[in-house]
Amino acid sequence: MDLNLKDNVVVITGGAQGVGRVIAHTFAKEGAQVVIGDLNVDAGEKVVREIDEIGGRAVFIQSDVSLLSDTDRLVAGALENFGRMDVMVHNAAVFLLGKFMDVAETDWRKVIDVIQIGAYNCARSVLPTMTDQKSGRIIFIGTDAARSGDNFQSIYASAKAGVVNFTKSLAMDVGPKGITVNTVSPAVVVTNENEAILDKLYGIKTKPEKAQKMLSAYPMRRLGQPEDIANMVVFLASPQASFITGQTISVNGGYSMV
Ligand SMILES: NC(=O)c1ccc[n+]([C@@H]2O[C@H](COP(=O)([O-])OP(=O)(O)OC[C@H]3O[C@@H](n4cnc5c(N)ncnc54)[C@H](O)[C@@H]3O)[C@@H](O)[C@H]2O)c1
Repeated sequence: MDLNLKDNVVVITGGAQGVGRVIAHTFAKEGAQVVIGDLNVDAGEKVVREIDEIGGRAVFIQSDVSLLSDTDRLVAGALENFGRMDVMVHNAAVFLLGKFMDVAETDWRKVIDVIQIGAYNCARSVLPTMTDQKSGRIIFIGTDAARSGDNFQSIYASAKAGVVNFTKSLAMDVGPKGITVNTVSPAVVVTNENEAILDKLYGIKTKPEKAQKMLSAYPMRRLGQPEDIANMVVFLASPQASFITGQTISVNGGYSMV
């Protein structure tokens, strides 16, 4: 299916590694022009070089999504470099695992700043342009734990749950302006960065018998790949998805069915 994303301009927060990097590549392969925002300059610039090598167009802007001034700079960068601003993907996050009483307040605030305030900042920065254009896509990356809850994830999952409701309420607000808002919700996704830790915890590479226990919770009997998430993101960004808004869509091999 041609997703008709050629020359669309897409901003991706946290695009320097993991799922965000693959989202950036997937948009570039669809012919979109990509602005990568991240704290990590070396990794972000590397993704730009990778996209250049496959004939795509991308720029990197060092930015902290928890700061409105930085998400403003991301949108300004998109307009300066490519003249439009069509899709905002807020993918950056910090993961925090721990029993609620063991987690320091400063750590809660960091998670909420990046995940939840980051979502507000992305929307706030991009909406003036999308409203003028009378079109746009805002896509958040959530987590299944936001709707099901999960052990040791009270802060991370509740910050993401805020994004799930923001998705619905903002979709009602901006739908009449031609803008859709959706969240893509993964369960565990194996990335270059977390593969070693997932192997240590669940044996996903080296202990197939141990891994089977974890995989039995997944009807599709495998963990997510970044491409699974990226494919849903590019679809939601496409004109074919123009009637989908306010939704949180799990891409999780059936891990949870909420
Ligand atoms: N990997 C999984 O198993 C999994 C599962 C469920 C949901 N998710 C969600 O998918 C998304 C991507 O996950 P991932 O595993 O690729 O994460 P990751 O930790 O590998 O990458 C996150 C990126 O965000 C960047 N970042 C962190 N704080 C930032 C800030 N303040 N400003 C800008 N950039 C910042 C990091 O530098 C990094 O490049 C996240 O939203 C995560 O919550 C991941």
